[in-house]
Amino acid sequence: MRRFGFFVHPLDMRDVVRIAPQSKGKRLPLVEKILEWTPAHEVAYIQGLKCADGEDAEGWFIGIPLLPKQITGLPKEFVLKRLYEGALLAKERGAQILGLGGYTSVIGKGGIELAEMLPELPMTSGNSCTTAAAIDATARAAERIGIDLASAKVAVVGGSGSIGAVCAKVFAANEQAAEITLIARNQIRLEKVANEIHEETGKTVLTNNSVQDGIKDADIIISATSSSGDIIKAEYIKSGALICDVSLPHDVCRDVATKRPDVLVIEGGLMQVPEGVDLNYDFGFDPGIALACMAETMTLCMEGRFETYSIGRGLQLEKVREIYSMAKRQGFSLAGFRSFERLVTDEMIEKVIKAKNTAEVQE
Ligand SMILES: NC(=O)c1ccc[n+]([C@@H]2O[C@H](COP(=O)([O-])OP(=O)(O)OC[C@H]3O[C@@H](n4cnc5c(N)ncnc54)[C@H](OP(=O)(O)O)[C@@H]3O)[C@@H](O)[C@H]2O)c1
Repeated sequence: MRRFGFFVHPLDMRDVVRIAPQSKGKRLPLVEKILEWTPAHEVAYIQGLKCADGEDAEGWFIGIPLLPKQITGLPKEFVLKRLYEGALLAKERGAQILGLGGYTSVIGKGGIELAEMLPELPMTSGNSCTTAAAIDATARAAERIGIDLASAKVAVVGGSGSIGAVCAKVFAANEQAAEITLIARNQIRLEKVANEIHEETGKTVLTNNSVQDGIKDADIIISATSSSGDIIKAEYIKSGALICDVSLPHDVCRDVATKRPDVLVIEGGLMQVPEGVDLNYDFGFDPGIALACMAETMTLCMEGRFETYSIGRGLQLEKVREIYSMAKRQGFSLAGFRSFERLVTDEMIEKVIKAKNTAEVQE
């Protein structure tokens, strides 16, 4: 039997209420205090995973009851202690690898500090598979709305981050974009990634510290930031553009769904789990849909690859490619497109194509 553990945490009050309905109507500061006092605990047991080589696998979701702004805003020592306790719990259950879901991999140098606290338990952020799934989804969605990747202007919001940087590297390495702009607040980190891309691929990429300015001409936007959400506003987006929003909580404001029928926003990093697998936990997705970071953890477990895989900000292109092919071998596949929690319909696609064509005629 192969075993994995995976950290989950609430993204917002909607998540808290779904998991603990008694918190409905309570004031946020009170809810945050209660979360601070709640220890890491087991929230689901996943069984029945059949590995490609015939071995069985099982795993546990370990709840880290902290909101994103608590994970990034509370003293790091407090958060790392809570994560360490969760990691010990996974290890006690028999986990041979631990996935750091959501913001639990953002803290402590992208998971490095936690991994160093418990070196006997291999860990992964899941960011390699998330990147692969986001790029695959972006390429497929671009094809559906008729954006030619090779001549597209691509903006990566969070371009100096773990997922954003390697997304930009994949586009540059595959010569898939006419222009790439990396966007984040810290210019030094942005330039470091821009220089790496230039050294590795010969491609010059632009940098920008303003989300509004950086995305205004983009045909394709990939957003993967550790902001607390809502940084891409309806008025910033070019008509006919495609946005793949990988961030949790999402970077694209919800009112884009109603105000901008001329752009296509898809949720990045979602995968369909192998047939017959029940995750036994309500993430707010349709049954059988998992985050790609979960898929990475489950895949490594099912492959028997108990090793620290995607940790820290410097992801490797080879691992992005390798994990996606291993995930497919284990029965995972890209999930259907979702936009603001609804499946993307042909009608939504038609509206975007029409807007894109009109915008092109006007240019
Ligand atoms: N769907 C999935 O399966 C999945 C899996 C893993 C992670 N995720 C999500 O992906 C996102 C990125 O994760 P990561 O590990 O790549 O994070 P990370 O390495 O910490 O990078 C975050 C990036 O966001 C930038 N940023 C933060 N706030 C910003 C703001 N207000 N405006 C512009 N840029 C900003 C950071 O640069 P500056 O600080 O310099 O601005 C950095 O470039 C997170 O939201 C995470 O929850 C999703």
